[in-house]
Amino acid sequence: MKIDGKPYRTILPAGDGASVAVIDQTRLPFAFELRTLASLDDAAVAIRTMVVRGAPLIGVTAAYGLALGLRADASEAGLDRAVATLAATRPTAINLRWALDRVAAKLRTVPEAERAAFAYAEAGRIAEEDVESCHAIGVHGARILSDLHRAKGRPINVLTHCNAGWLATVDWGTALAPIYVAHDAGVPVHVFVDETRPRNQGAALTAFELNAHGVPHTVIADNAGGHLMQHGAIDVCIVGSDRTTASGDVCNKIGTYLKALAASDNRVPFYAALPFSTIDWSLDDGVAEIPIEERDGREVTHLTGRLADGGFATIEVVSPGSPVANPAFDVTPARLVTGIITERGVASADVEGLLSLYPERRKAA
Ligand code: MRU
Repeated sequence: MKIDGKPYRTILPAGDGASVAVIDQTRLPFAFELRTLASLDDAAVAIRTMVVRGAPLIGVTAAYGLALGLRADASEAGLDRAVATLAATRPTAINLRWALDRVAAKLRTVPEAERAAFAYAEAGRIAEEDVESCHAIGVHGARILSDLHRAKGRPINVLTHCNAGWLATVDWGTALAPIYVAHDAGVPVHVFVDETRPRNQGAALTAFELNAHGVPHTVIADNAGGHLMQHGAIDVCIVGSDRTTASGDVCNKIGTYLKALAASDNRVPFYAALPFSTIDWSLDDGVAEIPIEERDGREVTHLTGRLADGGFATIEVVSPGSPVANPAFDVTPARLVTGIITERGVASADVEGLLSLYPERRKAA
């Protein structure tokens, strides 16, 4: 996507295979800065501290991190250590584990001297596939928006949660891809953007993206969605996912479940948009089985933002000494999900729906 007319991706490989550059998402929307990752530790820290975030992007970053780690130690032990280090950074998004498993499995038969270059090239292939998948998600999802527009004869109001746009992937995004494709095709779309406490990915990142692309939008407090749905202000909800089970349970940023409950109560269609790498075919019951990342309580107690003079400041917003909890994701049961928008089309949120799009998984399922 473009920033100030210049095309960007979230992760930019270097010609010599010795590093990769990423957009520092902890600085957005107020500063646009690139960071260079040149080692396994650089990549692991960038993922853990959310310099890069979003399920597909952390998968691609982990794949590059593996390649960078192998430049220092390409032995079997080095490979295992790099995989373990990167896998431990963030536990919920399955894309990270999926990317590591894919690269590591191929590397086992590659001679040690060629491993780093092979892994770097494979990370690049994962990145390219992610761009293709996300664009295809956009095309399939845009049909839902254009059908709604045709039926209602007015601009369509979409509610989204967190950031599942191009900043969360390599390009295009998942939940925002249908919005970009529809907007570019002339379908009038307006987006209600949940601010998404505690880290404000909606207010900071989704709003930044939509601004840059010229998509009409309004940032709302997280608690406003139910009220807007009761008053007919939302036509459809579209969110991303960090892990979706074979049965269609959708794990996504904390607060997604409450939006799905409100959508169900108000008969607002609720879609999750995700590529195949987000589906965990080994799981059935998302609420019971998906590990939910518990992040630092400081994300709840403190807010970082820009001061009137342009400087940055972090301020405390919780009564000092009060205990806090910070679960980063929740699970929306399949029964609340109208459909799952994938790169292969839109599936019902159940085993048969997903298998109809991914028949090659039938044997393994
Ligand atoms: O904690 P984050 O910012 O990595 O969480 C991101 C989300 O929850 C996104 O909705 C999800 O990764 C889908 S991204 C296309």
